[in-house]
Amino acid sequence: MKGNELRQAYLQFFESKGHLKLDSYPLIPENDPSLLLIGAGMAPLKPFFTGKLVPPRTRVTTCQKCIRTGDIENVGRTARHHTFFEMLGNFSFGDYFKKDAIHWAWEFLTEVIKLDKNRLYVTVYPDDQEAYDVWHKEVGLPDSHISRLEDNFWEIGEGPCGPDSEIFYDLGEERGCGSPDCAPGCDCDRYLEIWNLVFTQFNRTAEGTYEPLEKKNIDTGAGLERLASVLQNKESNFETDLIFPIIERAAQMAKVTYHTDANTDVSLKVIGDHIRAIAVLIGDGVLPSNEGRGYVLRRILRRAVRHGRLLGIKGLFLTELIDVVVDILGPGLKDLVEKKSFIKRVVANEEERFNQTLEQGLAMLTALVDELKKNEATVIGGADVFKLYDTYGFPWELTEEIAGESGLSIDMEGFEKAMAEQRARARAAREDVDAKVATPDITFLANETLTADEDAKASEILMIGRGANRVDRAEDGEEVTVIVLTTPFHAEGGGQLGDTGYIVGPMGKLEVHNTKKLPEGTTYHIATVVEGSVAVGDDVTFEVDTARRLSMARNHTATHLLHAALKRVLGDHVNQAGSLVMPDRLRFDFTHFSPVSDDEMKEITRLVNEEILKAQNLTIQEMGMDEAKALGAMALFGEKYGDRVRVVTVPDFSIELCGGSHVPNTAVIGSFRIVSEGGIGSGVRRIEAVTGAAALKLAQDDQEKLATLATMVKAKPEALVQRVQQLLDETKNLEHELAAARKELASGSMNDVLAGKFDVNGLTGVVAEVKANDMEELRNIADMVRDHIGSGVVLLGMAGEGKVNFVCMATKDAVKQGIHAGNIVKQTAQAAGGNGGGRPDMAQAGGKKPEALSEALAVGKQAIVNMVQ
Ligand code: ALA
Repeated sequence: MKGNELRQAYLQFFESKGHLKLDSYPLIPENDPSLLLIGAGMAPLKPFFTGKLVPPRTRVTTCQKCIRTGDIENVGRTARHHTFFEMLGNFSFGDYFKKDAIHWAWEFLTEVIKLDKNRLYVTVYPDDQEAYDVWHKEVGLPDSHISRLEDNFWEIGEGPCGPDSEIFYDLGEERGCGSPDCAPGCDCDRYLEIWNLVFTQFNRTAEGTYEPLEKKNIDTGAGLERLASVLQNKESNFETDLIFPIIERAAQMAKVTYHTDANTDVSLKVIGDHIRAIAVLIGDGVLPSNEGRGYVLRRILRRAVRHGRLLGIKGLFLTELIDVVVDILGPGLKDLVEKKSFIKRVVANEEERFNQTLEQGLAMLTALVDELKKNEATVIGGADVFKLYDTYGFPWELTEEIAGESGLSIDMEGFEKAMAEQRARARAAREDVDAKVATPDITFLANETLTADEDAKASEILMIGRGANRVDRAEDGEEVTVIVLTTPFHAEGGGQLGDTGYIVGPMGKLEVHNTKKLPEGTTYHIATVVEGSVAVGDDVTFEVDTARRLSMARNHTATHLLHAALKRVLGDHVNQAGSLVMPDRLRFDFTHFSPVSDDEMKEITRLVNEEILKAQNLTIQEMGMDEAKALGAMALFGEKYGDRVRVVTVPDFSIELCGGSHVPNTAVIGSFRIVSEGGIGSGVRRIEAVTGAAALKLAQDDQEKLATLATMVKAKPEALVQRVQQLLDETKNLEHELAAARKELASGSMNDVLAGKFDVNGLTGVVAEVKANDMEELRNIADMVRDHIGSGVVLLGMAGEGKVNFVCMATKDAVKQGIHAGNIVKQTAQAAGGNGGGRPDMAQAGGKKPEALSEALAVGKQAIVNMVQ
């Protein structure tokens, strides 16, 4: 039975069991960020299993294109590894379950394609007695043909999963490993898994937990190529009619014979497998690039090219093989036939590109490997892996594989570091292009109509600039400037940033980072080719980042409203002195000579929001300058305007000359809030403000802060002000109480202090050790003692951890008598390992020896005595 007949037989069989036949879904998953590419028949059907979407029927059958690259190194080395394969499947969404799934699988295998029953074996999940019973009791499979396997549980990323039952075909003892344990599930070639019946009853969440599904489902998968190899009695999938014609053609081109040399066979099989993947990937819209799916494609394609070289094929060969692929797969995949010439163009372009550097890259790699081996080193440095990648187009996986063939590995960390540095350089280079885009010579475009048209959906590339040069085409990874016939991208100007987004061509995609205008008005895009290639003359479509544009439009219209409101509130002297309209906020500079008061800010905010709430339609008209002036349009001083100007009006509020993006109606702004106001130069002030979602976010942040504060002070948000006032009052009272308590404490210690009172020559002196918390307290006590004695001298000392402090105070008459507080303190402190000094009436000092405190005070007392004797 031919492969195409087998596919049809399967689908027809399940149609006869009430299933709806669906075409294969594209390889690019829709709305499923957990998958890069479709890798199983059930993958595109996940929403039907989980109940998110209603299926067109509760039973469907498909032959699904699948890509799996996890084991790409094994492709060509085993009988059954593939990057691309087709998976036959029948699915039940809450309809039939285990019993029917098992019976029908058996019926198809034994009655439709008539496999020998004695060669069929199955495995079941250890706990799944139900499945065992159906196989054993109902189907009649002997126990010796059923085994229980722990890993019979199937899942792929997030989504539906469950225990499964796998069906194996015994290819015969001669294909086995000979081990006494060899049984279905063994890694050897004897038992070939031909079908997997998954009893889907769980949903695996993004967090990795398993939730039981409300309805039980069936998901089965049978590899078309494998089944074909059994039916066609072939040693491997590669020899079936689904792949072998490719191998034959490649062998012809390489002038080699299949099955004469093991290495040759590997290369032929790699090519046979990879070219099918290449064709379907491109057919489904994947283009070569250095990221994501595009990288998967590039990697597969370049790996195939290298194996062509290993076979000795000189020059380009892949496109020719596409014809063979389309002949094989076309009957099952109609769109492949329609897209054949496109696929060939993309393949030719990518193959040509790699071909230019392949020889040099291989030479470099061979030299590296030789060198390393000579030095008995085992790792290819990251910088070399990067050079091979960046300069010679070698995906690192390819380098790793080639290195592996000589027993070497690669320094992945070093490679990633070099990659990150390259990204930083590219970013800088882009900014550079941005800053000094070589004004392209566009006189050749003079006769074309170059217009900006926000509604433009499609256009044509007129010019590509790279650096200072005009080029005909650009490849992925290149930074370019692009001019198209009509663009919907809005150029930077009037304070508003340029639009960003994508320009999509038939063979590639540009990511637009900025849009600008040449002095004479032509709009150009600063972009990176992120996929495939683009060329002058390409028809392109546009994907402007409209959410970003709308945010800028909100901020731009709000800028006009703010301008008008400032004039109303602050006066007519207010003039715009600059503005910046960004997606996340707006900045407006204006002339005014004093800070804007809180009340004025409040009024300005109120006025702008009032205009928003009025939901006024804006009008945007082109007219002559004179007419605009007559209408009273605000023009910016120093700005140059053409004869025809664009006038943006918010009825009865604002009328300005402006080329920027605006909302159709003020209500679209949502709301407006000022974030900051301040001076930025003499007579110039700046307001920053937000609108729309950013204003909401600001309000939410404020609310959150209030809630946090409320929790902190244990009050409801509405009682927050009262509560804070209460706390402030409490704090003030506590401060008073604290001061009073301190005073009391101090006067208590004063009595102790006065015990150290003495008289010498009619002078009253007090020398004492006190306990105080700090210098201030010490001074306060000294103050009090001095006031208490009325006339005389006070010397106090206190000990702290590892230090002592002294203070000395003298009344005026004591000073007249010869007392000098500074000198007393100095001598005292010196006796305690310190120093200090001060005025005759007041001085303080410190020392480092608390243990010498009383000794020092005795020295101080002696100093006092000496001064008045
Ligand atoms: N989803 C199951 C598999 O791919 C059938 O093996």
